[in-house]
Amino acid sequence: MNKRYFWKTFSLGSVFMFYLCTNALANDMTYEQKLNACAACHGVNGDKPVVPSYPILAGQYEDYLVSSLQAYKSKRRIHPIMNAQVKLLGLTDSDIKRLSRHFSQKKSLKGLAK
Ligand code: HEC
Repeated sequence: MNKRYFWKTFSLGSVFMFYLCTNALANDMTYEQKLNACAACHGVNGDKPVVPSYPILAGQYEDYLVSSLQAYKSKRRIHPIMNAQVKLLGLTDSDIKRLSRHFSQKKSLKGLAK
């Protein structure tokens, strides 16, 4: 085996192993761990985004949140961060429903504008 072939095979192999590992991790994550991952950017109640330009999820319509997450999952909606989240966390349809219900039931910040 020549050097070039070795490195090609080696790097492709590593990428594949990484893919398998991230999939295995995602499948082992509990719903609570997934929710905590969202909280890192959107806040536990979806009302305190870490960066002002990140959207507030609290009090948004549940079906809007479901359709947004499904759109990220199917790549109908493209955003590097959210497409990666849905994939890395391995969000299932049932995770998407639970997360959307969680955030939609939190207090909306509509009153703040007054
Ligand atoms: C690394 C930061 C980060 C993490 C972690 C993250 N998000 Fe996001 N989220 C964003 C950003 C940035 C956007 C804006 C994307 C866009 O403009 O499409 C966004 C957009 C969204 C939207 C669309 C909101 C709207 O008003 O259209 C939903 C729903 C959402 N995130 C839910 C979640 C859920 C549920 C999780 C956890 C599984 C999560 N996010 C994890 C950064 C993050």
